[in-house]
Amino acid sequence: MNTPLRLLQLSDPHLFAAPTGQLLGITTRSSFASVLALALAQPAHAMIMTGDLVHDASPDGYAALHAALEATGLPCYCLAGNHDRRDLMETALGAAAVKPFEIQRLPFWDLVFLDSVICGLSRGHLPPEHLAQLDAWLSDSRVAALIFLHHHPVPVNSAWLDPIGVENGAALLHLCTRHPQVKGVIFGHVHQAFESFQGDCQILGAPSTCIQFKPDSMSFALDATPPGYRELVLYPEGQLSTRVVRLAHYPESAQLHSEGY
Ligand SMILES: [Fe+2]
Repeated sequence: MNTPLRLLQLSDPHLFAAPTGQLLGITTRSSFASVLALALAQPAHAMIMTGDLVHDASPDGYAALHAALEATGLPCYCLAGNHDRRDLMETALGAAAVKPFEIQRLPFWDLVFLDSVICGLSRGHLPPEHLAQLDAWLSDSRVAALIFLHHHPVPVNSAWLDPIGVENGAALLHLCTRHPQVKGVIFGHVHQAFESFQGDCQILGAPSTCIQFKPDSMSFALDATPPGYRELVLYPEGQLSTRVVRLAHYPESAQLHSEGY
C-alpha cells in the first residue's frame, strides 16, 4: 500500500468533568467535538493528542475523551501534558495513553512519543535515558520518523511561554540534526500554530482545540482565532506535508482580556 498516511494532531483540549465546563469562555468539550468533527470530515489513519487532555484532573473528563476517541475508530496516541494526571489518563484510555517512551511503527514511518512532563511544574524536561534510547533507535534505523511531545523544544518568541518549554530541548534538536530521517518534531502546549525548521526537520506547534494563545506576546494573552488542529500527511518516500486547519467559525468567544488561567 503506497498511499500517503493522513494523521491528525489535536492538542490541549482541557476537558472538564462537567459537559458545560468552560476555560476562559470556551466550553471545552464543545470546541473539542467541533474540531474533531472537522478533522474527521476526510478519511484519516490515526490521531495524536499532544497533551493537556483534561483540565480538572477528573476521571469523568478522561472518560469523555475515551468515548470520543473510541467513536473515531482510529488508532489514537495520547501524550500527557502538564495539566494531566497520568494515573487517571492510563486508567481511562488504556493503550491509547502512550508510555513515557514509546515508538509506533506505521507503514514507511515511525512515530516516537516522548513524555516531557515534570510532575507539578509547567515547564518540561526530557529524561536523558529516553534521549539515549531515541539516539540508539535512530542509529539503527533509516525509516522516516516523527517525534511527538507536549512541550515546545524551541523558543516560540513569547516571553511568558519560552521559560515553560522543554528545558533541555536543545539536546533533542541536536539529536535530530544527527539523524536526518527525523522529519518533524511536533508539540502542543503553546496553543498556537508554530512552524520552523532545524535543518530539514520541521518544528511544528499546534493550536488548541479550545483557547488560543496570542503569538509573539510578551505576557499571557488570548487570540481570537478559532480552534483547530494540525494535519500531517506522510508520504512513502519520506516527505512530510502539513497544515493547520481551523473551524471557519466558533460560536463562543474567549475572554480576550484574561491575564492567565
Ligand atoms: Fe494547554
